[in-house]
Amino acid sequence: MPVIIPVVSASGGVGKTTITLLIAHYLVEYGEDPGKILIIDTDPTAGLSLKIYGDDYDRINQLRRTLYHMFKDYDKGKNIDIDDYVNPPNGNIDANTLQNVKVLPPGEDDEGDLSNLVTLWLGEYGRGDALFTILSKSGALSRFNYIIIDTAPFFDKRYTSIALAMTDLAKVNKAVVPLRPTLTDIKRTIRMTQTISRKINNEIKPIFVFNFDKDMLRSEAAALREAGIEVLSKGSREARGAKPPGEVVKAVNDLKSTGKIINVALAYMASLTRFPEKWLKDVESYTPKCVISSIINEFNENIKPECSILVETE
Ligand SMILES: Nc1ncnc2c1ncn2[C@@H]1O[C@H](COP(=O)(O)OP(=O)(O)OP(=O)(O)O)[C@@H](O)[C@H]1O
Ligand SMILES: [Mg+2]
Repeated sequence: MPVIIPVVSASGGVGKTTITLLIAHYLVEYGEDPGKILIIDTDPTAGLSLKIYGDDYDRINQLRRTLYHMFKDYDKGKNIDIDDYVNPPNGNIDANTLQNVKVLPPGEDDEGDLSNLVTLWLGEYGRGDALFTILSKSGALSRFNYIIIDTAPFFDKRYTSIALAMTDLAKVNKAVVPLRPTLTDIKRTIRMTQTISRKINNEIKPIFVFNFDKDMLRSEAAALREAGIEVLSKGSREARGAKPPGEVVKAVNDLKSTGKIINVALAYMASLTRFPEKWLKDVESYTPKCVISSIINEFNENIKPECSILVETE
């Protein structure tokens, strides 16, 4: 059984796709065979696939090499071979490490409408075993060592559900949950976690990762520190003097009681906004290495958190 890592979130734009790619990148850089890593982009807006395929995404869709077409063929009773649907990033990204990673893009029908069929497969909370069954029959579960699943935000629950149902069936029961260190995001995330445990999977343990998608949220950084989470990023020195807002500290502590928080926040990295050209450079820096290795360690204890090297250089 591969290590299955679903990446889900309550809000949009919090770093799911970025973290999915960083996990794959880290695994390859530290010795995993890229051909044994499968990224499934279940987000119908195809953020990850557009990032790595660029304009080729339309061609891939025409070639029917997508999750959508895989599901459709399966429903028609065809024998599914995963190799007929996965695609390597084929030169559209600069990051050589990812060239041989396999990606299953979401795809869509001729009208550009994925959602009708998705509803059919998934329903509001998912046709729980759909993705697992099809991956199992297609040989993917014996062929890959890692399956990382990027999703659309939880306001469309189907995509979160299909990813989480995989963990249940694979008996992992963990999911990576990135969020911004803002009061709104924390509260939304707590609500999502409660809904997930009520409606999707009682057992699921969220692994929360605070991500700074803006250069500096001073008082939020101070609140994370107050709650015991390290924040090392540009400008974090000044933030040391900031007064932590009590309500954010309380929300972070509430969040702690619903799952595990990675104790170092993912810093803002200007290079990520210019993905993919410059991202490798920052992946070399300590903070993302520590955060990403800590996340992977939750799913595979053979990969140790690389945090001892953390030093504040500013
Ligand atoms: N730590 C970071 N530093 C700098 N930019 C970041 C960071 N994390 C995310 N971003 C940027 O924020 C934007 C949103 O990130 P990303 O696409 O990974 O989020 P997402 O959760 O996948 O979004 P969606 O919900 O739309 O799929 C992207 O432009 C990304 O480059
Ligand atoms: Mg995304």
